[in-house]
Amino acid sequence: MSSPKDTTSSDSVENTDGNGDAFLDKTLRPNKWDDYIGQRRIKENLHILLRAANEREQPPEHILFYGPPGLGKTTLAHLIAHESGAQIRITSGPAIERVGDLASILTNLGEKDILFIDEIHRLNKNIEEVLYPAMESGVLDIIIGKGPSARTIQLELPSFTLIAATTQVSGISSPLRSRFSGGTFRLEYYTAEEIKSILARSAKILGVKIDDDALEEISKRSRFTPRTANFLLKRCRDFAQVHKKNLDKKTSQDALELLDVDELGLNRSDKDILHTIIDKFNGGPVGLKTLSAATSEEESALEEVHEPYLLQLGLLERTPRGRIATARAYEHLGLEVPKRLLKD
Ligand code: ADE
Repeated sequence: MSSPKDTTSSDSVENTDGNGDAFLDKTLRPNKWDDYIGQRRIKENLHILLRAANEREQPPEHILFYGPPGLGKTTLAHLIAHESGAQIRITSGPAIERVGDLASILTNLGEKDILFIDEIHRLNKNIEEVLYPAMESGVLDIIIGKGPSARTIQLELPSFTLIAATTQVSGISSPLRSRFSGGTFRLEYYTAEEIKSILARSAKILGVKIDDDALEEISKRSRFTPRTANFLLKRCRDFAQVHKKNLDKKTSQDALELLDVDELGLNRSDKDILHTIIDKFNGGPVGLKTLSAATSEEESALEEVHEPYLLQLGLLERTPRGRIATARAYEHLGLEVPKRLLKD
């Protein structure tokens, strides 16, 4: 029998969604609260939570972050660890394959450590159950033996804080959800202004000279998402460097066009999804499975990456019978808006 593997690291290799490299993600990640732009309400709540716990000399209670990818869930976990002076251990739902893996992680934690579990919605249900007593009472229940002679012994764990992140909060069972006693926080899309400030900060760190107009252009096409914004900034920088151009509005537009990112920040996949709904399903409604089969996009990518942004822009609507393309989607794709969608 193989022994449980340690699936944690004390630093992370980020899931960059193919949108950047982990090293630069780390370089650009703010490591002071004052440098963290946006998500004001969450920041204020966390300050209170951390300060109160610190005054009571206790570790902060368990926290759940959710929202679309790239909005800063991992960054917040790092900032909390930094603020609490705690060590952070990082793992993810899919990396924990067996009960023994989780038991090994929990028993190797130090006093007041932070355990960060990314993509917690992908944690196997029978493994999840090991977390309940660990989160609630700080113990690990170990079953020894089998059948009628089986018995449970309890192992006391160091006091720790679990910070979990998910792009799919509906995939978290209510018993697990209710154990995040420090709070559940939904990360919101950033405003264009916030993204512009994040880009200006990143450009400074990377030593990229960039016009204000170009910052605005990249910001408009960044899906209100810092990770995407930083990815586009780096690619625009490459384009300007290779073409020996200043990074101004025109150069950024040319670079973004080459990357197939349109004025609203839609990429090829987003546009394919809208075209499929309109061309193959007469504008919808169409169910998730059908849409996934017709576009060759994974259901999870549709639900967690594309749809939230298309909904945010008002290009897509979700109805009980499925997804429908809005009048705005037809207009954006340069198509005639069907009469049924025209408001009188
Ligand atoms: N880089 C990525 N996310 C950021 C944020 N929220 N604030 C500042 N810089 C960032």
